[in-house]
Amino acid sequence: MAKRIVLADPRGFCAGVDRAILTVQTILKAAGAPREDGLPPVYVRRQIVHNRHVVEDLASAGAVFVQELAEIPDAAAAAGIPIVFSAHGVSPSVKAEAAARGMHVVDATCPLVSKVHREVLRFVKEGYEIIYIGHKGHDEAVGVVGESPEHVHLIEHAGDVETLDFTPDTKLVLLSQTTLSIDETAGTITALKARFPWIKEPPSSDICYATSNRQAAVKLVAEQSDCVVIVGSANSSNSVRLMEVAQDALAGRGVAHRVDDAGEMDPAWFDGVEAVGISSGASVPDELVAGVIEALRSRGFTEVTSVETIKENMHFVLPAEIRRQPSRAQ
Ligand code: F3S
Repeated sequence: MAKRIVLADPRGFCAGVDRAILTVQTILKAAGAPREDGLPPVYVRRQIVHNRHVVEDLASAGAVFVQELAEIPDAAAAAGIPIVFSAHGVSPSVKAEAAARGMHVVDATCPLVSKVHREVLRFVKEGYEIIYIGHKGHDEAVGVVGESPEHVHLIEHAGDVETLDFTPDTKLVLLSQTTLSIDETAGTITALKARFPWIKEPPSSDICYATSNRQAAVKLVAEQSDCVVIVGSANSSNSVRLMEVAQDALAGRGVAHRVDDAGEMDPAWFDGVEAVGISSGASVPDELVAGVIEALRSRGFTEVTSVETIKENMHFVLPAEIRRQPSRAQ
C-alpha cells in the first residue's frame, strides 16, 4: 500500500490574515511607481501576520516593516505615507503616538481581536477586574493588556491561577487570546472557577473560529497519522498550538513537527512512517503546504486524502481607512 498524506481541512489562511495581507497589497498596488522623495509606499508596524514568507514577500514588494513608530521619519508622516497596524492589534499608547505625530494610520487589526479590546473597555467601565489568559510578550496580548494595564491580569497556564488573589467582593471576568489551545484553556478555566467560583465568562468564547476549526481538524488528522507536520512560523501562536494539539492526538504513536517550509523537514522524521498528517497555521499561504506535499511525494507518500471537518465562509471587509479614502493610498 502506498504511503499516505492526510491533509487537514480547514487549514491555513483565516479571514483576519487574509484581510491584513490584502490591506498592505492594496496600498502597494495603489502606490504605483516609486516616490521621488525616496520614501516607501507603506510602513507596517511589526509583522503584519506572524509568517516569515508573507513578510518577506511584502517587503520585496516595497513595504517597510518597523518594530516601533519611532523608526518612521517625520517626513513620512508629513507626506501621508500610510502606516498599517498588524492583525494582532496595538495598545492605545501606540494609537496615541501615531495620532500625536499626525500619521495616516490604516488599522488592520483582526475584527475578532478588536472584539476582545472592546470587551476589556466595557468590563473595566462596569468595575470588573479582568483575568486574561494569553501569552506574555505576544503582540496580541500586549495590545489587549495595554487597554487597561492596572485592571487586566495576564496568566498563561492553570499553574498561574494560584498567584492571583481576589476577595469575593471583587467583580471578576475571564477573557482570552484568540489563538490559544482550546483544551489547555479549558484546564485553566476549570482552575480559575475552582479558586474564584464567582468569575464571569464573556457571552461568547474569545478563541476565534479559525483557531477552533483548525485544532478540531488537526486532531482528526493526527488520529489517522503516525507523524504530523505543521507549516507555520515559530512566533505564530496558533501554529505552535496546532503542533501541541497534534502531538497530544498522536498519543505517543509519533511526533508532531513545525516547519516554516519544506526546506526545514528532516528526512529522518519519516523513517518507518506510513501516514503523515499535514496542517498549517492561520497565517500560512497554501503554496508552502504544497511545497511540503511535493517533498513528501518524492519520498513515496503518493496517496493524498483530506479530512474535512467544516466549510469556512468567514470574510472581513477591508479596514475603513482604505474603503473611505482610496485616494490617500495613492
Ligand atoms: Fe483573527 Fe482568528 Fe485569524 S483572531 S487573525 S481570525 S486566527
